[in-house]
Amino acid sequence: MPLLIRNGDIITSGSRTQADIWIEDETITRIGRDLVAPPGAEVIDATGKYVFPGFLDPHVHIYLPFMSTFAKDTHETASIAALVGGTTTYIEMCCPSRLDDPLEAYQLWRSKAEGQSACDYTFHMSVTQFGDKTEGQLREIVADGISSFKIFLAYKNFFGVDDGEMVRTLQLARKLGVIVTAHCENADLVASLQASLLAAGHTGPEWHEPSRPESVEAEGTNHFATFLEATGAAGYVVHLSCRAALERALAAKARGVRLWVESVIPHFILDKTHAERPGVEGMKHVMSPPLRERSNQKALWDGLRTGAIDTVGTDHCPFDVAQKWMGKDAFTQIPNGIPGIEERVNLLYTYGVRKGGLDLHRFVDAASTQAAKLFGLFPRKGTIAVGADADIVVYDPAFRGVIAASAQHTNCDYSGFEGMPIEGRPSVVTVRGKVQVRDGAFVGERGRGKFLKREPGYL
Ligand code: URP
Ligand code: ZN
Ligand code: ZN
Repeated sequence: MPLLIRNGDIITSGSRTQADIWIEDETITRIGRDLVAPPGAEVIDATGKYVFPGFLDPHVHIYLPFMSTFAKDTHETASIAALVGGTTTYIEMCCPSRLDDPLEAYQLWRSKAEGQSACDYTFHMSVTQFGDKTEGQLREIVADGISSFKIFLAYKNFFGVDDGEMVRTLQLARKLGVIVTAHCENADLVASLQASLLAAGHTGPEWHEPSRPESVEAEGTNHFATFLEATGAAGYVVHLSCRAALERALAAKARGVRLWVESVIPHFILDKTHAERPGVEGMKHVMSPPLRERSNQKALWDGLRTGAIDTVGTDHCPFDVAQKWMGKDAFTQIPNGIPGIEERVNLLYTYGVRKGGLDLHRFVDAASTQAAKLFGLFPRKGTIAVGADADIVVYDPAFRGVIAASAQHTNCDYSGFEGMPIEGRPSVVTVRGKVQVRDGAFVGERGRGKFLKREPGYL
């Protein structure tokens, strides 16, 4: 059904317009004042609300076999959580282990999403080993519409690649024009620190951060940047958490390395004291890179305001309390990850725009437009313009609420942000012109999400 969104204060990364939006056949076909809806059209009055492009989360885990268990969401639960929070597209990490066949893994990950996701989606393809068949298989995957790879410098012997494998991945990416995203922590240093802490009897979740200190992430970031420089490939650091790593990334950007930076919402809002809480309360906040000293948050917020940090994702990765408890005897056994897909936009708006002086346009840019541009989805996604997909968030800045696991849609029995006040939330969310959310409730069509084919853009 055609849809008219009336009287909106339309905010994109580069403009602000008071206008109406006319949507037909899944796309925006007109933007202008005083548009008249023909009989039968659905009309949404956006008076007093912002109208944002649908938000894009560039880093989520949904199907994830990891640390002897599986992340809790399905595409059905994760996409509904995403939409309620204003995210209309996500990029899931397809993460085979080193022992898995990449092509079979890619098909498995696609099958988990097909017909299940209520929002649009695509994947970063993880390269977790580089053998004789790898180049041919990756070429097939790229031809199928995947234009970004993922490598892990951490998680030795499971997802992690060695330097030789990293070079081969980056050389291939350079040839194909694919961007390579990377988890940047030095795996050998982490393994050595974990062993000495456990040997000293330090087993609780408060030892997770000391086992992966800032220096380990700074080294990983610098290491990745050095390899990008040597190969000429384009790269993207995922979930950068601290000032020291940001300095290494900025130094690389300044010398011309094609490098972009993502930070994720937990690192802006939470700090390492959350993981130092006794027992399972601390375990709930174990993720990698770890939550840091609070002083790092100034560097992250400043970096976000100035554009030194390009995007804000979530690294959404829900494990429930029983799974977290697997690490009761050793912090190295706590499944790493925190859910956040539902809260990202509201937290960034509340603590960035409302309380932190983050410009509304940079907010849209970091939470939507930049990721769409970097990962080959712009201008179909990431903006409000004639011809773009009609993914729209009518956002109510007058809403006041508090985050509570009891009300969340993600399949997890806790929220890392429990009790935090929120000032604003999506009032209407559309995916390609169909209303999927109204005022915190999913009212749409399950399985409506489409796989988004992308073309490499970094030749
Ligand atoms: O703790 C995290 N980040 N879990 C998910 C896997 C990853 O490293 O992104
Ligand atoms: Zn990671
Ligand atoms: Zn991740």
